[in-house]
Amino acid sequence: MPDDVDLSVEVAGLRLKNPVLPASGTFGYGHEPGALFDVSRLGAVVVKGTTLRPRAGNPPPRIVETTAGMLNSIGLENPGVDAVVAEHLPLLARLGVPVIVNVAGDTVDEYVEVVRRLDRAAGLIPAGLGLELNISCPNVEAGGLEFGRDPALAARLLGMVRAVTGLPLIVKLSPHSPDVVAMGRAVQDAGADAISLVNTMVGMAIDIWRRRPVLGGITGGLSGPAIKPMAVAMVYELAQHVDVPLIGMGGIATWQDAVEFILAGASAVAVGSALFANPLAPLEIIDGLVDYCGAQKVSSVRELIGAALPRRGS
Ligand code: SIN
Repeated sequence: MPDDVDLSVEVAGLRLKNPVLPASGTFGYGHEPGALFDVSRLGAVVVKGTTLRPRAGNPPPRIVETTAGMLNSIGLENPGVDAVVAEHLPLLARLGVPVIVNVAGDTVDEYVEVVRRLDRAAGLIPAGLGLELNISCPNVEAGGLEFGRDPALAARLLGMVRAVTGLPLIVKLSPHSPDVVAMGRAVQDAGADAISLVNTMVGMAIDIWRRRPVLGGITGGLSGPAIKPMAVAMVYELAQHVDVPLIGMGGIATWQDAVEFILAGASAVAVGSALFANPLAPLEIIDGLVDYCGAQKVSSVRELIGAALPRRGS
């Protein structure tokens, strides 16, 4: 493996030693997987969706395997922002990597208050605290996708949040955004420092013997290899129309998948569903990226970001 390849990237002002992150909601609070591997090898850790008050989440069953993917209907179960700050951020600080907390809410005021409280806690994470504004969760009745489908609503939310924090702000988009370019431009203009895409797609499975939906929440979010080509296409499209860095995700399981997203314009990539089958996937992807850069004779992964995009002006 070449040892002189530089995998470092900067996203939203966060310095990442490599571009490989876990996707929110698939990595617990970010410190628990330390029992399995050295989490500090990742570019950053991403904490699951955090709301103002504790949420119990949706009724079970919450997960169902599908062809080339899975459906989840977690419903943003979490202990609330104060518990995340008090119990999880101090443990995450020990990892020495940037931490990105995924923020969700039912209303603009809720998002703003969660962000305000995380902003006050930023000093706990010397390697850098970033926020990923989740406007794309398909499993809740209020908030979530409501903001992710409407650029004007998303921009208003961003403006309100931006007013209470100078922390790096990443906005997580839905594949259900009717116009990803309009949405990307709206959140960029309203103050987003980076955009992550895509969250899951609404899907469902029906138990043919019970004649009922399988998931307790009826519908769920589809993720995994089944959605990868759609996610790559959205990154490729958006990268041609915004200037902020993109974090690509949707079905990444191997280093080859990660390279596709990077060539399509992603500065970093997030691994989600693949972690359930192979918790070591992110480390394998990091190693694979080093080898690929060596084979392509590039000294920095940054040279590959957007390398498959049409040349500007051509
Ligand atoms: C969930 O908690 O239901 C999933 C989170 C998300 O899709 O953003």
